[in-house]
Amino acid sequence: MRPARTSLFHPKARAVLAASALLLAAGCAAGGSISIPLTPAAPDINAYPPMPKGAPPGASARAEAAAKALGRGVNFGNMLEAPTEGAWGVSVTDDVIDKAAAAGFASVRLPVRWSNHAGAEAPFTIDPAFMTRVESIVDKLLAKNLVVVLNMHHYRQLDGDALDAGEAKVADALVDVRFVMLWEQIAARFKSKGDRLVLELYNEPHGRMNGEPWNVLAARALGVVRKSNPERPVVIGPTHWNSAGDLAQLKLPNDANLIVTVHDYNPFPFTHQGAEWVTPVLPLGVTCCSAAQVADMTAPLDVAKSWAAAKRYPVYVGEFGAYSKADEASRVTFNRTMRDAIESRGMTWAYWEFAAGFGVYDPVKLAFEAPLTCGVSVVRVTLPAPFLSSTFRMRNLTFGATPRLAALEDSAPDPPMVPAMCVPCPYSSVGVEVANERPLRKS
Ligand code: BGC
Repeated sequence: MRPARTSLFHPKARAVLAASALLLAAGCAAGGSISIPLTPAAPDINAYPPMPKGAPPGASARAEAAAKALGRGVNFGNMLEAPTEGAWGVSVTDDVIDKAAAAGFASVRLPVRWSNHAGAEAPFTIDPAFMTRVESIVDKLLAKNLVVVLNMHHYRQLDGDALDAGEAKVADALVDVRFVMLWEQIAARFKSKGDRLVLELYNEPHGRMNGEPWNVLAARALGVVRKSNPERPVVIGPTHWNSAGDLAQLKLPNDANLIVTVHDYNPFPFTHQGAEWVTPVLPLGVTCCSAAQVADMTAPLDVAKSWAAAKRYPVYVGEFGAYSKADEASRVTFNRTMRDAIESRGMTWAYWEFAAGFGVYDPVKLAFEAPLTCGVSVVRVTLPAPFLSSTFRMRNLTFGATPRLAALEDSAPDPPMVPAMCVPCPYSSVGVEVANERPLRKS
């Protein structure tokens, strides 16, 4: 069962652990002594000071280039951020890696629940087998020339949320320092990967992270990441689930190699209708996209665009999407509208998500959900016979009379990033088939 996005934060009393272990030696009548086993000293979070903040310089050319290279991406959601891989029905198979790459996505965001694969006490060692598993996936994605955004996702206690079944509780006083020390390990392990690997500190901070706690913790975590990865682009997002409305409260560390992320699931009654992890479950039957709904979708993007212009950091929309309980035609319209709205504001994106409840790919049929993929399309299309002898125009596309087009152009602002464009949806209405067999031109 997935988590409740709308669950309320219930402040928890934080137990204060003794900083040093107890050692009792008691004399007894026999003149002997007893000792109580040592509890390992709790690590001091002040050993990880926050990076200075308050004067972020704006993004470096490196960060700007990395944000641009993210292009049109997709989340490998419900895979490694489930309590264990496969528990939410999908895994990172070679097939999904191959298909995401062949479909032409420029980047993959890889959500990972590190917190469920690490010790509960210092030094919070990440399970070596899990670390190796994540690294092997990152390597395969990089080998496909994809840009990879490796994040930390669903560290439930960090936000003050209830644990999922089977998760072990960490002492409250250790939760934050554990976050930083997990990053110390992750950053060290991935420090030698090339420029196409981007790290993202935390998905959707909320609850007990809202406000200043996240600003401070993010600055501590970036400090440890910078020890091993001095220049790697790092993604940081605002609180309240990466809401653009919280950008005003986000205090970036003074670091130029940053990309800022927001998520946009507006209109929520449409995108999350029937979602089992939202309480109460929202009613079905909401369609999209009226003018009012489009205004709702684009309002956060306008906030993000203004913020980006003022602060001079690029913005990456790391999640948007609509759950499969919405009607398909509306989801297609939603996807296309969002894609165009994000790109026209100069931002890049990752669709939520590849192969589960929001998915564009059916991992059982091993096939793309063609109309949906159309919405966030980067798929190559082959025009069927009726179109081969004529010029075919759609939006501002002109297709020549070539049976297999080398590349289809669309109206997006950056042609090298635009390998293909969907044709009118659903595909069946124009008889165009999707052919994913060849990688597409990438930036
Ligand atoms: C969460 C997922 C959820 C999705 C849409 C993501 O950030 O991690 O669990 O399905 O948002 O609600």
